Amino acid sequence: METQAIRFHYRGELREVADQPTTRTVLQYLREDLGCVGTKEGCAEGDCGACTVVVAESDDRGGVALRAVNACIQFLPTLDGKALFTVEDLRLADGSLHPVQQAMVDCHGSQCGFCTPGFVMSLWGMYLTHEPGDPAPSRDEIDDVLSGNLCRCTGYQPIVQAAVRMGEDYPHAPFDREGLARTLEALRRDETFAYERDGHVFHAPRTLEQLAALRLEYPEAHILAGSTDVGLWVTKQFRDLSHLIYVGQVQALRDIHEEGDDLLIGAGALLNDAYDALVARLPEFAEFRQRFASYPIRNAGTLGGNLANGSPIGDSMPPLIALGARIVLRRGARVRELPLEDYYLAYQKNASEPGEFVQGVRVPVRVSGRRFRVYKLSKRFDQDISAVCAAFAVTLDERGAVAAVRMGYGGVAATPSRARAAEDALLGRPWDETPVRAAMDALARDFQPLTDMRASSGYRMTAARNLLYRFYLETAPGAPLAAHQVNTAVLAGTA
Ligand code: FAD
Ligand code: FES
Ligand code: FES
Repeated sequence: METQAIRFHYRGELREVADQPTTRTVLQYLREDLGCVGTKEGCAEGDCGACTVVVAESDDRGGVALRAVNACIQFLPTLDGKALFTVEDLRLADGSLHPVQQAMVDCHGSQCGFCTPGFVMSLWGMYLTHEPGDPAPSRDEIDDVLSGNLCRCTGYQPIVQAAVRMGEDYPHAPFDREGLARTLEALRRDETFAYERDGHVFHAPRTLEQLAALRLEYPEAHILAGSTDVGLWVTKQFRDLSHLIYVGQVQALRDIHEEGDDLLIGAGALLNDAYDALVARLPEFAEFRQRFASYPIRNAGTLGGNLANGSPIGDSMPPLIALGARIVLRRGARVRELPLEDYYLAYQKNASEPGEFVQGVRVPVRVSGRRFRVYKLSKRFDQDISAVCAAFAVTLDERGAVAAVRMGYGGVAATPSRARAAEDALLGRPWDETPVRAAMDALARDFQPLTDMRASSGYRMTAARNLLYRFYLETAPGAPLAAHQVNTAVLAGTA
């Protein structure tokens, strides 16, 4: 195979790299090869944000998208055709600090300083999305953007203050987006990028057809999307991945559009984009979106990666199963669809055939009268894995009886699952206390949860039951409770 050099833009220069392993991380390259040690390493698993950098790429409309991501789990060849920005890039032309940095100094936003470059890069990414004269970012926006940055000494208040002040108290620092768009255009490839080093291969197709052909030719290769799972196979499990097919350059795979009553989300859609599209149609997803991983993980990770990985504690599957989503699979030119719940056969085993890949997911978003909720239980609000995730969708007929019901659960079985026994206990019955209690009991026939470090089997079963009851309280005909009223009502014994 003829290998090409990885080409990307960094610190005002075109970089061409041809001598690095295919799974060299961007962070290793920065610190160990270039000596750019401003970007720090804390966890090497996407959890702490010390390694936050900003990556720019062309969007499909001739513009530029800049996103904060975790350099510790991104592989260097994924930078081909992109531009990289690190904390070393931020000083202004006259050598003074960027407003983001100056605000951090003035607000005392740093103590030991280890986390600071990561915070600064997350804030810089946000700074670029605000035009001069725009209102300061809201507290919610700041909390969300910083959800992947941990600080152990300063405390977050001064950092949040810096986020508010950076756009207001200092002269605006312009950023040349047009120039960057031209730079990126010059790096564009139309054909598959192929990189080989020490017998290890990295392919990055640009079209769906190129991807389908490569997948058929190399069914044993690993697909790489946002690398928020696969990156850890390398940094934590030291796995040797001899052939990667990277789908992040296939724009068509990122497409999100409506088809009739369905929303079709391409497998390569970034989690932030996919969940924004879902929230716009189903506002019940709003809190869940914010609690999925962290902002930089959602900037890199894809919905297709989450579905294909199929972890029993993965978050997207329970709500999509409850909504009746179908997974779209492609092999060569053949496209087929399966109900999402049928895709998961056993622990880490799915229904994909050799040579097949996930092309997208079809989500019915317009179902009249459907009541829907999704709940995530974990120890922290942000950046935590679910102990239990549960989602419910129920539609009542004109008599108030359950005409359709679907329940998706995560964290209670070896795969993401549908609770069919509990659904059967409800179907055709009135949506009231007695059938709901019967369905809660029926969950014991659906699942036998495990005990692990996140939760005990008993806790998981109790939570699975109580979340169904919570759904009922929030959607009961006549007197539904608002989310914040449920705990109070249960504690007071009125529910
Ligand atoms: P990758 O890591 O690139 O790939 C994951 C798997 O999917 C691989 O097996 C890959 O071969 C396969 N794959 C990818 N795309 C395709 C495709 N189109 N067709 C076929 N196979 C494909 N997950 C949660 O559910 N909830 C969380 O709260 C959460 N928090 C996280 C926090 C951190 C710090 C980290 C590091 C991860 C977290 N994750 C969480 C896991 C991860 O972010 C998600 O599973 C994510 O959606 C994976 O997508 P990706 O694009 O990064 O996939
Ligand atoms: Fe912790 Fe990258 S080093 S997120
Ligand atoms: Fe020390 Fe944040 S300043 S970890």
